[in-house]
Amino acid sequence: MNKLSIRDLEMSGKRVFIRVDFNVPMDGAKIEDDTRIRETLPTLRLAIDRGARLVLASHLGRPKGKIDLKYSLAPVAARLSELLGRPVAFAGDCVGADAEAKSKALRDGEVLLLENVRFHPQEEANDPEFSRRLAQLCDQLFVCDAFGSSHRAHASVVGITKFVRQAAAGLLMEKELTYLGKAVSNPDRPFVAILGGAKVSDKIEVVQNLMKLADAMLIGGAMAYTFLKSQGLPVGKSLVENDKLDLARNLLEEARRRKFRFVLPVDHVLAESPDSASTRVTDIAQTPENLMGLDIGPKTIALFNQEIAAARTLVWNGPVGMFEKPAFAQGTLAIARAVAAASAAGATSIVGGGDSVAAVERSGLASKISHISTGGGASLEFLAGKKLPGIEALTNKSESRKEI
Ligand code: 3PG
Repeated sequence: MNKLSIRDLEMSGKRVFIRVDFNVPMDGAKIEDDTRIRETLPTLRLAIDRGARLVLASHLGRPKGKIDLKYSLAPVAARLSELLGRPVAFAGDCVGADAEAKSKALRDGEVLLLENVRFHPQEEANDPEFSRRLAQLCDQLFVCDAFGSSHRAHASVVGITKFVRQAAAGLLMEKELTYLGKAVSNPDRPFVAILGGAKVSDKIEVVQNLMKLADAMLIGGAMAYTFLKSQGLPVGKSLVENDKLDLARNLLEEARRRKFRFVLPVDHVLAESPDSASTRVTDIAQTPENLMGLDIGPKTIALFNQEIAAARTLVWNGPVGMFEKPAFAQGTLAIARAVAAASAAGATSIVGGGDSVAAVERSGLASKISHISTGGGASLEFLAGKKLPGIEALTNKSESRKEI
């Protein structure tokens, strides 16, 4: 990586502003999944061990620039304190006198978490003055470990980098970039991409970019029906984006022209609605008009398994069925098992996106996956070949430090 790393910084006795992504799922004040907090611990421990004074900032949810305590990071401070085994101070506002006083009171190795940066509209506006006020809380050292937010050109991700001497990547950021970067630049082959989820429109650029990079693409989930319908196949009441049919047809034609293996479902699990108790399996060509497809069928699972077993690099984003309903979770769980088995046999596997990560976790196979990305939107943008502003803004290794 050509960006400065936290390992390159001299942090002893200095306040370091660390942007993390603690945007964790909450149920009231209860954290439902603390993965994103745990994944930053190596970075935080490194900073603590090196005598830094840690000022942590994050967003939580989308409070639309207003104070809304439903989105307070206070419960996260308590959880972080348990995980680190040391006190974590909390400032009720991410800028202003209290935050400044608390940052100045930090001693070496101590930790302060600031309240949700999105309580201020200036955060998402990437406002320079707000960025400068955030930067005042540190001694011109910034670390970005928020890979999950790196596609957002916001003040605590991008704007702040203009007001510090050094802006470096944290260890989680480096790990994400190592795995995802290798997949898109120098993958071991065959490289097989598995894409699912509801909408083609969410993943067009990812499909287009991965068609240039991968050797095969397996498509499941509701998004498959737009492709199937574009080929004149019957899809019954399945979810289709009718305004994307031409696009789907063009992508499939391009795949044929390039002899790219674009693998669509050949059979599926159907029901009258996601809530109906009775299900039926048919080939796609036999889809009845009154039913909708909600999961891939056994023939498709076998077809996908074959591709997955032969792969040396696997990237998976999005469930291949309506995974949240047990009757339609079998396809996604089968993919999780196949990806885990391929990884055990030496393939590199990367899983991203909330639902596919949840599927891997529910199947109990998470530890078998080479890398579970903490980025949803960010990993999709990365796989679509886009430059992420939060990464671009970090100091180049060749610059090392700049005058501000
Ligand atoms: C995420 O959960 O993908 C990140 O935390 C970014 O959140 P956002 O989509 O609200 O910007």
